[in-house]
Amino acid sequence: MRLKIEREGRVVRVRLHRPEVLNALDAALMTELVEALTPLDADPGVGCFVITGSERAFAAGADIKEMSGKSAADMIAEDYFAGWEAFAALRTPKLAAVSGYALGGGCELAMMCDMIIAGDDAKFGQPEITLGVIPGIGGTQRLTRLVGKAKAMDLILTGRLIDAEEAERIGLVSRVVPAETLAAEANAIAEQIAGYGKLAVMAARDCVDRALETGLADGIRYERRAFHALFATADQQEGMRAFKEKRAPEFTGR
Ligand code: HXC
Repeated sequence: MRLKIEREGRVVRVRLHRPEVLNALDAALMTELVEALTPLDADPGVGCFVITGSERAFAAGADIKEMSGKSAADMIAEDYFAGWEAFAALRTPKLAAVSGYALGGGCELAMMCDMIIAGDDAKFGQPEITLGVIPGIGGTQRLTRLVGKAKAMDLILTGRLIDAEEAERIGLVSRVVPAETLAAEANAIAEQIAGYGKLAVMAARDCVDRALETGLADGIRYERRAFHALFATADQQEGMRAFKEKRAPEFTGR
């Protein structure tokens, strides 16, 4: 097993577990991850995923040893890496809790998540250029959208690593916390998100992601449709009723 999965209340924590290779992402890990999370994604009782690694590495990239023997024909025939899109497409919010290295595919996996919470020991980078290739799991696209051309070119063309403080400054990570409190902080954020109505949370993350793909006018129309649709949910009624009654809402995910 390449993953350790535990569920606590509405939060599912997934720990990548290939310590001997710093959680290098091979095809089997990708398949295991998608197969484990797909049914949980559809479960209204699951409100947030936390994806994490070890203290030493979130993930040191795609598995170089697995990749190195492949031909271009293998890559095309297998559509190598395409399976990761199923992970990105999960609708339950995903937090990446990053300690240590998040390099190459590891950084790309973190960017597929909705928020990255970094320990102050975290190191991010896209060093594929040093291997004679380029980012292949969305890095050239997601990193550029997240941090802009200047920083994306800097990281992708030089392959240099950045620390958590710089990653936060350029907009790659949401929060930096002391490494020793990373798990607790990430869990607290996940529990907070998981406590809200899941339909509203899914709509919110979908609309924010849409902003990266569309023009402003279309994005605003998209947001308005999603906003209107939420008025068909029990959680909208409960949230607003609870406000008026000065009590905490009890959301059901419906
Ligand atoms: C396979 C990996 C690996 C990887 C580390 N290991 N990263 N195996 N794929 N991505 C293995 C090492 O071979 C080693 O196994 C063990 O993990 C420990 O790593 P060390 O190098 O001994 O550790 P350390 O000296 O602390 O260096 C850590 C490191 C370094 C700086 C993270 O491991 C490193 O540079 N890794 C590669 C990072 C990288 O280039 N990532 C991008 C991959 S390409 P053994 O058995 O030797 O002890 C990618 C996208 C590709 O992600 C897209 C192209 C299409």
